[in-house]
Amino acid sequence: MPQLGHSIGFIGAGVMAEALISGMVQSEMVNAKDIYVSDPDTERLLMLEEQKGINKVTSNKELLNFADVLILAVKPQVVGEVLTEIKPSIDKNHWFITFAAGIPTSYIENILGEVPVVRVMTNTACLVSEGASALAGGRYALKEHKDACETIFSSVGNVVTVKEDLLNAVTGLSGSGPAYMYVILEALIDAGVRVGLPRKTATELTVQTMMGAAKMAQDTGEHPGRLKDMVTTPGGTTAAGMYQLEDGGLRVTLMNAVMAAAEQSKQMSERLK
Ligand SMILES: NC(=O)c1ccc[n+]([C@@H]2O[C@H](COP(=O)([O-])OP(=O)(O)OC[C@H]3O[C@@H](n4cnc5c(N)ncnc54)[C@H](OP(=O)(O)O)[C@@H]3O)[C@@H](O)[C@H]2O)c1
Repeated sequence: MPQLGHSIGFIGAGVMAEALISGMVQSEMVNAKDIYVSDPDTERLLMLEEQKGINKVTSNKELLNFADVLILAVKPQVVGEVLTEIKPSIDKNHWFITFAAGIPTSYIENILGEVPVVRVMTNTACLVSEGASALAGGRYALKEHKDACETIFSSVGNVVTVKEDLLNAVTGLSGSGPAYMYVILEALIDAGVRVGLPRKTATELTVQTMMGAAKMAQDTGEHPGRLKDMVTTPGGTTAAGMYQLEDGGLRVTLMNAVMAAAEQSKQMSERLK
């Protein structure tokens, strides 16, 4: 893992901040002593200081004295108030990473002016270092900012780069995607129980099957249709199951779900541009 060469400031010490701090420290891209964190919850800061070795800072403004990369790790509804608070303390060395859902880079630039901003759409699997993240640079973000952001998020999973207007599509696919997978998981487990398996056994088999299928697709790079054909014997059991999936409209249902989520994300972002 390349060394980051920046000091990092987290504004907000919640679930996502903790996942990123863990990933960054474990991958040794940055020393915990170069990470500064501010949050109104002082007990949480103390816990992170003790467990991860980061520096706790008492205010967002003070954070700017120590860090050049500022990571906005607060809920979307708090971002505006945080930016207004820190604006007077920003200098030319500071730049921003945001992963607040639905907040465009232009919203941040409109408040702060000509600052480099990299926006990331990630997902909940960051918490187990298997996140799927897509990043896009704002108007003033340079390659070096996007590269550093990619390094940070690659400590908690895979990262791709897209144009910002595609982040709504990313939100509909991989941002919301874990929820779709949980529904599929739950339905398959219920199906296992329906055909007679104990729930614990059905759960273990289903989770491993989903993970194994994803790993096959990732490791082999094969088209999923070909992987499916490889396990579908003419007149066999899988072919009988596949017929029912097609009859139930699984593909079009999943496409509709992704389209609806992407459209919802677009509408939410438009309001903040
Ligand atoms: N969780 C996910 O799976 C996920 C996935 C993708 C993107 N995201 C995005 O990641 C961002 C953070 O999500 P999260 O799940 O980590 O949220 P979270 O656990 O609620 O963390 C946010 C933290 O920010 C603190 N905070 C509130 N106001 C603040 C202020 N003015 N200055 C500094 N800190 C402040 C909160 O403290 P209090 O609790 O005391 O208010 C809380 O500790 C969100 O914008 C979300 O859209 C999350």
